[in-house]
Amino acid sequence: MTVWLVGAGPGDPDLLTVKAARLIAEADVVVHDALVGDGVLALVPPGVELIDVGKRPGQVVAQDFTNQLLVDLGRAGKRVVRLKGGDPFVFGRGGEEALALLEAGVPFEIVPGISSSTAAPLAAGVPVTHRGVAAAYTVVTGHRREGEHDVDWRSLANVGGTIVILMGVSQRGLIAGELIAGGLDPQTPVAAIRSATTHRQTVVRCVLSELAATPIESPAVIVIGPVASLDLTPLQSYDS
Ligand SMILES: C[S@@+](CC[C@H](N)C(=O)[O-])C[C@H]1O[C@@H](n2cnc3c(N)ncnc32)[C@H](O)[C@@H]1O
Repeated sequence: MTVWLVGAGPGDPDLLTVKAARLIAEADVVVHDALVGDGVLALVPPGVELIDVGKRPGQVVAQDFTNQLLVDLGRAGKRVVRLKGGDPFVFGRGGEEALALLEAGVPFEIVPGISSSTAAPLAAGVPVTHRGVAAAYTVVTGHRREGEHDVDWRSLANVGGTIVILMGVSQRGLIAGELIAGGLDPQTPVAAIRSATTHRQTVVRCVLSELAATPIESPAVIVIGPVASLDLTPLQSYDS
């Protein structure tokens, strides 16, 4: 094996898997995203090459570049840990990286991580399912890209259960409008959790009709549904 596509979890290094922590400790090179927490990167041993391929405002690293980088490092026989925020296969483009490695014949393994889609609600004390309240949850991207298949928000309004939106901060007004137009009650509770499980974590609560006007900063997970009115958090603190 030469390349590991590893989920780094939502931010708190204590939420890494044991396998992720072991692979980081044994790596020659760590290639990481912008969302990988500082506390997780602090576990990378001194002397290990650290390559930041994070996509942030003003810094766009083409996915093709990252794919080729992993292929080249893998072919060089290095122990490459590709650290991705949350779970590599939940809106992480880990599938594209796996395909590139597969096509290049570079051996790789995929290591799941704790996704922010459940960890962020949990960090705010919001259970995404709750007996008698929500029997299902739908995880959806709020990110829109020209020419790409768009989410049918009006249909989603009728699915029932909890709606968990990643990458939805900038489109939250449009999303709320579409969900209400699709029949979702404007008074439906909403919780938005920013930088969950890090020392920067903030939680904002409102109802759906207020979502557009409610200040929320990225990265955030937006939870829509009756469960969002719950707060079952015991006293929690995070290191990173
Ligand atoms: C490209 S997606 C990657 C998702 C990731 N693979 C996962 O499983 O969590 C990035 C989005 O995930 C969400 N996200 C990731 N980490 C987060 C955190 N610690 N707190 C809140 N939202 C987070 C935000 O919606 C962010 O815009």
